[in-house]
Amino acid sequence: MQALKDDELAAECTGVPTLRLKLLACVISGALMSAAGAPAAMYVQYADPSSAFNLNYSVSALAMSLIGGTAHWAGPIIGAILLSTTQQLLTVNHLVGSQRAVARHNAGAVRGGRAGGHHRPDPQGSPQSKRGRRMMPPETLAPLLRISALTKRFGGFTAVDNVSVEIRPRERFGLIGPNGSGKTTLINCISGAFRTEPGTVMFRDEDITRLQPHMRTRRGIARSFQIPRPFRSMTVAENLMVALDFAAATGEPASAAQRRDTLMSILKQMGLELKADVSVTKLSQVELRKMELARAMATHPKLLISDEGHGRPFQLGGRRGA
Ligand SMILES: Nc1ncnc2c1ncn2[C@@H]1O[C@H](COP(=O)(O)OP(=O)(O)OP(=O)(O)O)[C@@H](O)[C@H]1O
Ligand SMILES: [Mg+2]
Repeated sequence: MQALKDDELAAECTGVPTLRLKLLACVISGALMSAAGAPAAMYVQYADPSSAFNLNYSVSALAMSLIGGTAHWAGPIIGAILLSTTQQLLTVNHLVGSQRAVARHNAGAVRGGRAGGHHRPDPQGSPQSKRGRRMMPPETLAPLLRISALTKRFGGFTAVDNVSVEIRPRERFGLIGPNGSGKTTLINCISGAFRTEPGTVMFRDEDITRLQPHMRTRRGIARSFQIPRPFRSMTVAENLMVALDFAAATGEPASAAQRRDTLMSILKQMGLELKADVSVTKLSQVELRKMELARAMATHPKLLISDEGHGRPFQLGGRRGA
């Protein structure tokens, strides 16, 4: 193999069966990639051509070999450890930075997995709105979302078992659990991507258990995805415009300038205002997540669900915000 790598003709002329060896190298590489790809697909839960044949993977593999060096078999392994550790560290540092900023900004108190709404309590202990109107504490308000005895099975496997939850206006609800415990599945059941059987999902006192996902979005349930799913042929602004045009549309049509203002204010809230006219394919993973949350915000949700969010709370507002 080493001879083949150094000089193929010389190796051939020295009796090395180069074609057979190249085929063998191809088979071993394919087998290794399959062994790694199969659990990865199980982990991310689906594989589509755009993610499975993403050029980034090939470039990463190349970068690992370049960083670690190819003189010794351990080189690419060292390169892989260095590259993936650096990627993780950079991502974590970025997220921790934004979470610290959020923590300074947000005075809400967390109670047993639930957090108070995005408001500052007044000195008398009773929160007030910006306009000075007295706001009721979340626990006294009627539930926005009420899930009763929700169960989701995949064949004989029960992913979500008899879950009941109530979420009230202005309340933040955190769902924490180990990998595979059913968090995404529950979100899919709430957003309508999965049908539940049995169990009911009530949203603002309406039974939406059998409603299609886009109808739920129009009623005020927006979500982001664990693995970002942007509209890849569009810019950031165009991604949000889809939400403004389809989900947030009310009776009176807004002018193009008004819609641009709305989307720019959402992008500003997410720190993406300078990326408005950039193609989503040019965004980093963190920016993609922010873009997806901005797109969800553009639907003017009453309930915003973030699957593995980056910790930034939002003030739901706008025409339909609660
Ligand atoms: N479409 C599906 N078909 C079959 N099984 C599924 C499907 N979607 C999820 N599951 C299974 O349901 C279980 C719960 O998965 P889910 O993705 O909801 O977990 P999770 O809590 O979101 O995990 P993670 O923290 O890794 O995101 C897992 O065992 C998963 O394999
Ligand atoms: Mg998940």
